[in-house]
Formats: sequence, C-alpha cells, structure tokens
Amino acid sequence: MITHNDDVDWDRWPVADYLAENYRDVHPADAAVIAHHSAFYRRIAPGSVARSVECGAGPNLYPLILASAVSRRIDAVDASASNVAYLEEQLLHRPDASWLPFHALCRELNPAVPATLAKALAPVYAVQADVRSLPPRTYGLASMHFVAEGATEDFAEFTLFCRAFVRCVVPGGYLVAAFMQDMPAYRIGPASRWPGCPVDPHAIEAVFAPLTREVTVTHIDSDPTLPDYADAGMVLLTGVAGEAG
Ligand SMILES: C[S@@+](CC[C@H](N)C(=O)[O-])C[C@H]1O[C@@H](n2cnc3c(N)ncnc32)[C@H](O)[C@@H]1O
Repeated sequence: MITHNDDVDWDRWPVADYLAENYRDVHPADAAVIAHHSAFYRRIAPGSVARSVECGAGPNLYPLILASAVSRRIDAVDASASNVAYLEEQLLHRPDASWLPFHALCRELNPAVPATLAKALAPVYAVQADVRSLPPRTYGLASMHFVAEGATEDFAEFTLFCRAFVRCVVPGGYLVAAFMQDMPAYRIGPASRWPGCPVDPHAIEAVFAPLTREVTVTHIDSDPTLPDYADAGMVLLTGVAGEAG
C-alpha cells in the first residue's frame, strides 16, 4: 500500500527533530539552494510582488527570508498545526538565533533582503491550510521547498501538488522550488516515518513544461553533512507560470 497525503497526520510533524537534523547550521546544500534562488530573486524588482506564498512552509525560515526581498506580504502555508505553531512563535517572538546565518547569507547574495532577520520576517503570515485548496491566480510569486515529493508516495499526487503550486499564481507569476531527488519514504528522528515520492530532473521538467515558461531545472549533488535520506541530491527550479496553469 502506498501512502497518500490524506493518510498522514501532519499535525504530528516532529518540528524539533526536523530542525535539529536539517536547519541548525547552514549546510552546503542550503548555501547552494540560497545562491541559486538569490540569482533569480535579484532579477525581480525589490518590493514589486504584492503577495507571495510559501507552499508547505514547514519550520524552514530561509525561503521566507529569500522571498522578503521582493514581497510586500508572504503567506507561509502549511497543513500541520505543529509547524504553524513554530512559525507563529518565530514571527511573534524572537526567531531562533540559528536563522541568523541563513539571513546573513541571503542578504549577502541579495542586498534587497531587509537588513535584519526581524525585518525580513515582518511581512510573513503563518496560515494553516492545504496547499491543494489555495485559490487559483491569487499570488504574484509562489515558492515550495521539499513538499510535493515529501508529502505523498504517489506520483500522480506529486503532479497534483505541482499543479496546485503553479495554479495559485497569476499567469506570469514567479515560481521558485526545490525538490529532493529520488527520495523514497524517509525517517525523521528516532521513529517517525514520512512519505517520499522519488522524482528526478526529467520527471520534474515533464510536469512543469506544460504549465510554465522560462523554466530552468538544476541538479545539485547529495550533501554528506545532511542526514542520509537515501536521496540523490536536490533539483532546483525557477520559472514563470503560463496561461495553462
Ligand atoms: C518535507 S517537509 C518540508 C518543509 C519545509 N518546506 C522545508 O523546506 O523544510 C513537507 C511539509 O509539507 C507539509 N504538507 C504536507 N502536506 C501538505 C498539504 N496538503 N498542504 C500543506 N502543507 C502540507 C508538511 O506539514 C511539511 O511541513
């Protein structure tokens, strides 16, 4: 039996274990994602996007910091109560100091990122919602990190998540994404098991080509400093939503 998105209790997402495994330090893979995305964000006029969305934000703040360079408002959307509670705490109180080096790198690579972490997070609102239910043609920019392929084991459902991601932006809206490559179901912390759908650059190109224009798909190698999720690295994507999205 393969696991679908609705089979999973996302409220049980192990925030502390996930952060400890992935985001307490800037790993080389994070730096590569930030450098890749910053090159795209630098081409967008600062503050020119009225409303952006981070699809499946989880407890990861660096995509929000990147988007703050161009966005006047950012909706950080996630299905999980535990992730939304973490985001709200970060936004309403002081963010964890571990995010400061992420902010410094984002700002070094794009001076349009606000000067302090607090200012970068000021336009962010945490929203508990299903990304598949986001209203169509609502946002000027959508980004998504490790969600469509980390939220199901069904390739058809992976495709549905990607379609929802593209559909929530206006035609011509910006798209920024990262995917784990060839990652099967995975474990976080000592016990919990989560769905994974192995995808590679060709599969991602095939899903996005009919929905987008100016799409670029880039592979980065597996990072030995991260936990072994049996992946083959990451796939990074930028593009612009087409009319068919
Ligand atoms: C592998 S985590 C990635 C988290 C984060 N984006 C990051 O970069 O680390 C997958 C995330 O997708 C969220 N998620 C799963 N299904 C979802 C859905 N249907 N709608 C919104 N978020 C969902 C989970 O709660 C989790 O935060």
